[in-house]
Amino acid sequence: MAPPSPAAPPEVASRIKELREQLHYHNYRYYVLDDPVVSDAEYDRLLKELEKLEEQYPELVTPDSPTQRVGAAPLEKFESVRHRQPMLSLENAFSETEAREFDDRLKRFLRTTEEFHYVVEPKMDGLAVELVYEQGHFTVGSTRGDGIRGENVTQNLKTIHTIPLQMLGKEAPVPELLEIRGEVYMDLGEFDKLNKERLDRGEPAFANPRNAAAGSLRQLDPAVTASRPLKIYCYGVGEIKGATFQTHWDMLESLRKWGFRVNPLIETCAGIDAAIAYHHRIEKDRHNHNKINYEIDGVVIKVNSLELQERLGSKTRSPRWALAYKFAATQATTKIIRFEFNVGRTGAVTPTAVMDPVEVGGVTVSRATLHNEDEAKKKGVYKGATVLVQRAGDVIPEVVKVIEEEERLPKDAEPFKMPEKCEICDTPLVRESEKITRCPNPDCFGAQTRGIMHFASKTAMDIDGLGEKMVLKLVNSGLVKDISDLYNLTAGDIIPITEKPGKKKISGKLANNITTAIEKSKKRPLWRIINAIGIRLVGEAQAQILAQNFKSLKDLMEASEEKLKDIEGIGDKRAISIKEYCNNPKNKKIIEKLRGLLEVLPPEKQAAGPLSGKTFVFTGSLTSLSREEAKNMVTSRGGKVSSSVSAKTDYVVAGAKTGSKEARAEELKIPVLTEAEFEDLVR
Ligand code: IVH
Repeated sequence: MAPPSPAAPPEVASRIKELREQLHYHNYRYYVLDDPVVSDAEYDRLLKELEKLEEQYPELVTPDSPTQRVGAAPLEKFESVRHRQPMLSLENAFSETEAREFDDRLKRFLRTTEEFHYVVEPKMDGLAVELVYEQGHFTVGSTRGDGIRGENVTQNLKTIHTIPLQMLGKEAPVPELLEIRGEVYMDLGEFDKLNKERLDRGEPAFANPRNAAAGSLRQLDPAVTASRPLKIYCYGVGEIKGATFQTHWDMLESLRKWGFRVNPLIETCAGIDAAIAYHHRIEKDRHNHNKINYEIDGVVIKVNSLELQERLGSKTRSPRWALAYKFAATQATTKIIRFEFNVGRTGAVTPTAVMDPVEVGGVTVSRATLHNEDEAKKKGVYKGATVLVQRAGDVIPEVVKVIEEEERLPKDAEPFKMPEKCEICDTPLVRESEKITRCPNPDCFGAQTRGIMHFASKTAMDIDGLGEKMVLKLVNSGLVKDISDLYNLTAGDIIPITEKPGKKKISGKLANNITTAIEKSKKRPLWRIINAIGIRLVGEAQAQILAQNFKSLKDLMEASEEKLKDIEGIGDKRAISIKEYCNNPKNKKIIEKLRGLLEVLPPEKQAAGPLSGKTFVFTGSLTSLSREEAKNMVTSRGGKVSSSVSAKTDYVVAGAKTGSKEARAEELKIPVLTEAEFEDLVR
């Protein structure tokens, strides 16, 4: 047995006390305020001094000493702890209407017409914990559990530097007992870094920051938790003895004074309108990681007055005085049922995951694009996989990643594989690259449908009423085999394929609308027709360039490859593709038919605006726009895009890694714009 250590002289005990206070304070400055007042070296020196003294006099070690953040032995299992007051959950609202209903309900309950003062807070997407402080010392920390009992994770919580081991007592006296409620979470940047490291080590990545935070906090070995970048924001109290507040806001202010970390985005506001405005503001900033670098899933609206909170009371599971006003989720998890391979208008085959329907961003989603073979393989998707899907704005839902299952693969797991043959016409597929697989059959039904939809689309012939369902019906029924067949359709042809029992009138009207729209599309400017016929690599911008260089479709069909290659903005690859299209006998026939049906209008007046008469050349890779988008921005504003710099060029837009074009522009004294300057100019 080690000899008993000598009793500590009083000056040692007081030095220990002093060191602890200093270290607690510096920890608070560094981690909570993010505003240190001493150097790291100075902090380390103080900590070392304390460690040494505590080593000499182990009887003076206390559980909340700054030396005790890490180092507790791993547990066998977590003990259960009862919360002194239940940790309730929140009622959810998903719309403005529901938020207003909440406000109305409170007014009715309190028989008042006066507007409430609310406190509005980001709703953190982490995990709720409770921290118990007795006489200012952190004693027990637990997870929410079922709201009544949680798991004792004190050792793990102690490793989180934003949790004070000792409350600060300078600005406000420390209460006898304080139960703090808050959310443990992980910053997005730290989450990405952690996942990268895990993947490098061959460990599965965490699906999202919340899982990462929860997984990290529920570790039996505190050393593991200590290695994870967890943080806390505190937003409430449970039981409290020895301090009182008038409002929720006062309470948050006191928490700040006591050294707890409180979200700086929390505000007070008057009335539900202001609370709704806050929701919209935060939702807008939600993905701006310079402002909000952690995941939130809504805002919490809380009645500010504690007296009113008291009067409103709680229902079984949630208080009446608070509401979680959620954002529409943009990500969700679901399961892949099977794969489908869709054939686009150019014959390109795109793999699609068909999934169990799930709500994402307010709509039900059951299909998500996998883009191409390369992407699908990189993501490691398989039939039966649980996946994270996302929808951002109006874009097509996509599979973000497979959620790693720690157990074996599910029984129905079947790895992703591109088919050998076109699922629509059975023609063997051609693999052009990892990214492109194509059905080479020009009569392929899938390509036909897409081709007709493209022909009718807004930036092509602009024919209303020819969406996917309608086109499928027309192709399925054999009425339309190629785009020229559209112009032979009569209302009488369409009615039988759209008719629903008892709704004759509707299909008659629909059929008339479609034939009228088709009729109207017989008069279109040349560029629209060129865009509409669906030449590979020719989009709206190139169609406009071609229309400036050829008088008619016939002219274009007869152009030599050399002539096409020479056109600025077309280039070798496109010239070859255009020629391939024009030499194809089937296309020749279709164009011949179209020429007899369509009347080519004179070119539309170029859109008036800052860019009419201006020629742009792009060089280097752009970051926030694709080349295609940038070019469209110019042409749609009446400008021209050219591929080489000449005396006729007005602006050169230089992205990253530019080459000789930028040098040439400087030689010719042509202004060179950065991407940001270009956007400023055109917007
Ligand atoms: S207040 C009695 N405020 O949301 C009120 N909760 O569904 C209880 N949460 O378990 C909670 N941010 O994990 C409150 N600013 C915030 C919050 C918040 C996130 C979580 C918390 C709670 C859940 C309730």
